[in-house]
Amino acid sequence: MINDRPITYLDSAASSVPPRAVIEAMSRHYERRHANVHRGVYQTANESTHDYESAREAIARFINAPAGANEIVFTKNTTESINLLAKSWGAANLKAGDVVLVSEMEHHANIVPWFQLREALGIEVRFIPVGDDFRLDLTTIDELLEGVKLVSVTSMSNVLGTVNPIKDLAQIAHRHGALIAVDAAQSVGHSPTDVTELDVDFFAFSAHKMLGPTGLGIFWTRQEILADMPPFLGGGGMITDVSSTGYVPAKGPTRFEAGTPPIAEAAGLGAAVLYLEGLGMDNVHEHEHLLTEDALSRLETEFDGRIRVIGPRDTIARGGVISLDVEGVHAHDVAQVLDQFGVCVRPGHHCAKPLMKRFNLIATARASYGPYSLIQDTDVLLEALTDAVKLFG
Ligand SMILES: Cc1ncc(COP(=O)(O)O)c(C=O)c1O
Repeated sequence: MINDRPITYLDSAASSVPPRAVIEAMSRHYERRHANVHRGVYQTANESTHDYESAREAIARFINAPAGANEIVFTKNTTESINLLAKSWGAANLKAGDVVLVSEMEHHANIVPWFQLREALGIEVRFIPVGDDFRLDLTTIDELLEGVKLVSVTSMSNVLGTVNPIKDLAQIAHRHGALIAVDAAQSVGHSPTDVTELDVDFFAFSAHKMLGPTGLGIFWTRQEILADMPPFLGGGGMITDVSSTGYVPAKGPTRFEAGTPPIAEAAGLGAAVLYLEGLGMDNVHEHEHLLTEDALSRLETEFDGRIRVIGPRDTIARGGVISLDVEGVHAHDVAQVLDQFGVCVRPGHHCAKPLMKRFNLIATARASYGPYSLIQDTDVLLEALTDAVKLFG
């Protein structure tokens, strides 16, 4: 309950709510088999390692990684996965003058690491513009791709809900000799994912946005690329050998997993994958699609134009993230009124300041759906929005 109202959770784009199966998998780890991984030989240590490595296999299956679990690196979150890409692959493969092409609708997690690489190496960071239709403007993509070594774009905008044509972009990038990385934080928990079919090169996402726990991210790349990436962090667990004169890094994904990893979180992620597979990602996608279509049409008709949706109206290639701009009312005020109704939305710039600037906005109030969202959630959202509009005249 919030303010004597049942919680209406519409902030799944920030973090999704884990189902009981995920919480139980984590509790089971701590209560029954807590031990470190890859080290002990006693039974619970083996079980712990088994859970951790099973999660790697589950996520490889979930995204259809061509060479399976050997291509899955566990990190802390999407942000760390993109930093791993920039600071390991980027630092080893890019040089001054090379271009990384991102887009104007990126989260800061897919902008700042590239600016940092620009400071370190002198690369150029170039932006694909976003059109007035809230979609990537690809009219000059061939020119934009000149000199580009890496395209790094989001599969779905966390502000607009726009779903980008990743497969097409992968084809164009490859035709120009560039690799393509995908910030998949907003899509993996909401629609089917197949990195083989997309023919992409890098994929970054977070467990906590796909019904899993916080503190665990995923980095995927093809085995042959991973094999040549230098380690990012050094320490225990990421080596084959260490002597007083040097070290030999481990082969495979553990090379990037220095120190004790998030073991209980991996057990939770494994359960989240089973849960989502049980629902069926096509069903999850269809469910959220229907919710989004319903919400957009009611927002369009019930507020006399006082509420503007910052994102495509067309629900084809669009996810369940609905950013609202209420005429004359700051997004924080909107969110505060909504809180009185128990409605959880996110006000602010959503870590996408270049995009906010593009649309001349300071903030939006963002409602976002998850697999557990219901049409009743939209009813309460609209009831609360009606009150906010009335309150602020
Ligand atoms: C598109 C996108 N990329 C990256 C991130 C960063 O995710 P995390 O905070 O889990 O690293 C987010 C988080 O909201 C996001 O929406």
